[in-house]
Amino acid sequence: MKILFIGDIFGNVGRRVLAERLPDLAREHAVDVCVGNGENVSGGRGMTKNLFRKLRKYGIDVVTGGNHSFSVDDNDYSFMNEPVSLRPLNYPEGNLGHGITVFTLEDGRRLGVVNAMGRMFMHEALECPFRKVLNAVNELREQTPIILIDFHAEASSEKAALAHYVDGLASAVIGTHTHVQTADERILPKGTAFITDAGMTGPEHSIIGMKPEGVIKKYLLQTYVRYEPSEDGAMFNGVVIEVDDGSGKALSIKRVYERVSFGSL
Ligand SMILES: [Fe+2]
Ligand SMILES: [Fe+2]
Repeated sequence: MKILFIGDIFGNVGRRVLAERLPDLAREHAVDVCVGNGENVSGGRGMTKNLFRKLRKYGIDVVTGGNHSFSVDDNDYSFMNEPVSLRPLNYPEGNLGHGITVFTLEDGRRLGVVNAMGRMFMHEALECPFRKVLNAVNELREQTPIILIDFHAEASSEKAALAHYVDGLASAVIGTHTHVQTADERILPKGTAFITDAGMTGPEHSIIGMKPEGVIKKYLLQTYVRYEPSEDGAMFNGVVIEVDDGSGKALSIKRVYERVSFGSL
């Protein structure tokens, strides 16, 4: 099975990149299934029901989330209950939604997807991602050996630790959240593909998606500044992972990075 994973899809620019490029990229890489992180799709923070539907329409089969999964105020979050909409599984009980799913392809093959969030430099009150992910992976392995984990975390050490923790049990651990694609993609000794961060699909000339002015002001003045999403430059960031259908072990992991110009859009 060939899986395309798309790094944090950011705002208007991220959506336009998908509209422009996703069908071709999926064809070029002969992917069977597509997973994308949608936590920044609404103006850089959060996701709405309509935008969730749009991501699905562009060709994303399973949409994952992160620390911004619930960042849009007064939002109708009923879409969180759909099987292909995930938020980190280690949020406390009482939150809507779930962080684990099995997606069945048209040919019957099944992909298990897990979404979890790190605690280091993030939300320390979350439940332990290591224990929660291991339980989820063991549960999924009763249905399919092909399992992808989107680990939404800040610290590279926490991401690498989780990947090694499930090495041989999951097909891939893909880091998200830092919005900067790392060049450390590899297959761990027992067959789990890993990259510290898949990067961001959104505006290249930005500070992790936002206009630089506001972010610089925040660093200088140390007071609240309302960030605005950048519309400058566009890029696609993601990875393609090939997995052996029988064993669930990764055969390859390849970074995808592309500058995109919008043509007639
Ligand atoms: Fe993000
Ligand atoms: Fe995030």
